[in-house]
Amino acid sequence: MSCPIGVFDSGYGGLTILKDIVKEMPEYDYIYLGDNARTPYGTRSFDVVYKYTREAVLKLFGMGCKLVILACNTASAKALRTIQQVDLPRIDPQRRVLGVIRPSVEAVADFTGNGHIGILATSGTVASESYLLEIAKIHSEKGFLVTQQACPTWVPIVENNEMNSPGAAFFVQKYIDTILQADPQIDTLVLACTHYPLLRSVIDRFIPEGITVIQQGEIVARSLKDYLCRHPEMERELSRRGQIEFLTTEKGGMFDKMAALFMQAEVTSRHVEL
Ligand code: DGL
Repeated sequence: MSCPIGVFDSGYGGLTILKDIVKEMPEYDYIYLGDNARTPYGTRSFDVVYKYTREAVLKLFGMGCKLVILACNTASAKALRTIQQVDLPRIDPQRRVLGVIRPSVEAVADFTGNGHIGILATSGTVASESYLLEIAKIHSEKGFLVTQQACPTWVPIVENNEMNSPGAAFFVQKYIDTILQADPQIDTLVLACTHYPLLRSVIDRFIPEGITVIQQGEIVARSLKDYLCRHPEMERELSRRGQIEFLTTEKGGMFDKMAALFMQAEVTSRHVEL
């Protein structure tokens, strides 16, 4: 039976993660599901993000996925724990749902020299304090100083393909200046939203020298590879035809055009209801 790896995001952003996962492990099959009809999740409540994410995970399980990656920081922040602790034991304890926050948090220690870390994310991820809590838990002895900044206009800029507009530059500079004013010693900035890599060239224009900007795609891809090495019982289940299926809750063909931008390759999607 076919057992692809499920990759879920509220919209297009998770494609930046999928791209790096496929680059690292092209042999497996993947199903990407974007809930574009209900994006953005970043401004929604815990209950709503959990409900939507759970529906998406169940859809991917129903399509044969035994392993699902929440390639969305907001879903990882607001829904992952409940899905892992409450839903999975009831639905099927053999299935796994993994997020993007933990691997990113584990990786920050490799980048920072002075322990001053900045988190750029959606309002929802910032409000969840997931990065603060995870960093405090995983790197408790290191005394990292973490500053968060919500960048509420960045996702709509990307969703509307306005990355190269003067408005994009204005809003990118605004939030970078704000976080660097809050802690001028920051030496590591995490792009803690899967949409933000699409703004990378604009972001780089406003980052002073000496600051490392972390994107999550490669980190999550390496972490998933490591997970599969440590869990051969899951790895054995995965099908290997090197195929990617794209699903979206949006109608009207917009997805393919935007997804091609994210994947830098042609994309043909299928509409699904959750
Ligand atoms: N993909 C989401 C994230 O990484 C951002 C988009 C949204 O707000 O839905 O947080």
